[in-house]
Parts: sequence; structure tokens; C-alpha cells
Amino acid sequence: MTPDQLRGGLWAVVPAAGRGARFGGDVPKQYLEVAGELLLAHTLRALLAHPKVHGAVVVLAEGDVRWPGWREFEGKPLRTCAGGDARADSVLAGLAALPDSVRADDFVLVHDAARPNLPAADLDQLLERGRNDPVGAILAAPVRDTLKRSGDDGGIDRTEPRERLWRALTPQLFRRLQLTRALESARAAGVDVTDESMAIERQGQRPLLVEGSDDNFKITTPADLARFEFALSRRS
Ligand code: C5P
Repeated sequence: MTPDQLRGGLWAVVPAAGRGARFGGDVPKQYLEVAGELLLAHTLRALLAHPKVHGAVVVLAEGDVRWPGWREFEGKPLRTCAGGDARADSVLAGLAALPDSVRADDFVLVHDAARPNLPAADLDQLLERGRNDPVGAILAAPVRDTLKRSGDDGGIDRTEPRERLWRALTPQLFRRLQLTRALESARAAGVDVTDESMAIERQGQRPLLVEGSDDNFKITTPADLARFEFALSRRS
């Protein structure tokens, strides 16, 4: 048996409790149908098809009536729990709902439900490099556009240098207890962390950046959905 199997394996937390206010429409984006499947199904497959990922906790909005009730996916266990008002609250709830076999110092993946197009090679890289880092790692993509800082009137105040700037993607890989403590500390301080790494950075830690591909985009607008449909059609 590998050390992974002995320790219950690597689990993922998938926050899917957002109401998709920016997307518009009645159906939260994770429940939109793409190529005959829920967006959430595409995301879960991208994670659970990986041999090193042994299960996932899906964090659902309170009173979610659309969840199909899956108890497993790709032959691997799925758990669910209720999320909170902010993404970080949802992730904290997901961390608490992990099985006991995931120990305090085991790594856990956190991956947005709204990123269905995660390439297997990116997940490989994240796991390979992140698990050798004492803190953990995130997938990220270098900023390629020129960045402008606006004033209150919408005019350009200045151009920001883009060197060494990255866009944080998911999955992000951190140790269960360390991430839990970091998110709790941010919450106690009233800091709205927009990803897991931000909470870890607040603790003075420096997670590793692993360059991922632009294919791993977040579905935010209807145009992103069309892009994902196109990506799927090219796969088959
Ligand atoms: O809203 P945004 O696109 O940043 O959400 C990223 C992910 O976090 C989505 O998968 C969304 O469902 C999830 N989320 C959550 N709980 C919240 C807000 C967002 O699980 N309160």
C-alpha cells in the first residue's frame, strides 16, 4: 500500500455554494447544463478522474434543491455539507466535513466548482511540486495584459507594472489544519480572503506558484460557458 492509501488518500473540497449573481439567470452556474451534463459534473470529473484524488466534499448552498444527491462519482466517495455567505466560509465548512482519515497535516485540494476545464497535466504538476513544498502550492497564470489603475472618474491614473504578477487559479493545495487555522484567523480579523492562499499568506507563509494553463478558466459570464462548450467539442 502506498502512504496515500494508508492515510485515506488525498481529498478535494469543492465550494459550490455560490449563487452566481454575476452570471445572471435563475440557475446557479454550477447547475447549468453543458454537453448533457451539469457544469458541476464536469468539474468533479476533472478532479476525481485523477488517480491520486480519492474523494471530494462538495459544499452546497443552504436549501439547494438542485443537487442530484450523488454519493459517489467516478467510483470515488462524495460528501456534501452546507456552505456560508462568503467563499471562505464555504471552504471552512468543507474542511470540517472531510473524513477523519484526512489527518491534520495531510494536504487537501480546494477547487472552484466553476472551473470545469482543469487540465489533468496541471493537476499533476500541482500535486508533484506542491507536495514537496512545506507550505503548499497554487495553480496560477502570469498576467499578460497591461494593467491600468483607474481613478474615481474612470480615467487612468497610472499603468501598473505586470512583472511578477500572477492570476491565482484553483486547485490550491494546503494542509488541512493549517488552512483551517488560516481561514479562521482571517475570519476573526474580518479580512475577506478571496482565495485560500491569501489566508495562508496572512500567516507569513509563502506558498509555491505552479504555472497552469489559461484553459483552466472560471465560468463567470455566458461567454465563458461558450468557451467551455467549444473546449469540450475539441476534446471529443
Ligand atoms: O463567485 P465566484 O465565482 O468567485 O465563486 C468561486 C467558487 O466559490 C464557486 O464555485 C462558488 O460556487 C463558490 N462559492 C461558495 N460559497 C460562497 C461563494 C462562492 O462555495 N459563499
